[in-house]
Amino acid sequence: MTTDSPAIPIEIRVDGTDHRLAVDPRRTLLDLIRDQLGEPVAKKGCDHGQCGACTVLVGGRRVLACLILAVTCDGAEVTTASGLAAGGALHPIQQAFLDNDAFQCGYCTPGQVCSAAGLLAEFADGAPSHVTSPVSAAPEWSDAEIAERMSGNLCRCGAYAGIVAAVRESR
Ligand code: FES
Ligand code: FES
Repeated sequence: MTTDSPAIPIEIRVDGTDHRLAVDPRRTLLDLIRDQLGEPVAKKGCDHGQCGACTVLVGGRRVLACLILAVTCDGAEVTTASGLAAGGALHPIQQAFLDNDAFQCGYCTPGQVCSAAGLLAEFADGAPSHVTSPVSAAPEWSDAEIAERMSGNLCRCGAYAGIVAAVRESR
């Protein structure tokens, strides 16, 4: 027997649109975006934080939407791959994915482009990665840095060479 949990009111902005919603406290941000808002661009791959298909930006930082409870995003600004394309114009990282054949089936791509957008912001902030030299004042661009920082986003089509090239071109 299951017990219903009382819905909790939240306010959330997704891709520039404000929503007032009553949310089951057990619902993830990914299920809120896909099922409650009817926006399928955020993909569900593993639903366990292992593939990166669900990556979106919350307050400009990349997160795995399948691992975050929606109620913790009360007051947050969420951007999906749809929201990256402001006013119908592709975000530079989206254009770079097109230009560099950085996808095949495209299932991982919404998460990849959100992750890449987050990566660009993290790099601009000087945030180090696992492969950044500890003696560097700030990370320096290299394919190793890009691969490491994109390693949370799997691509079953193996489009990794194009993905690294796209991020390299977008910096
Ligand atoms: S669906 Fe979220 S990491 Fe795989
Ligand atoms: S393009 Fe098919 S999984 Fe990445």
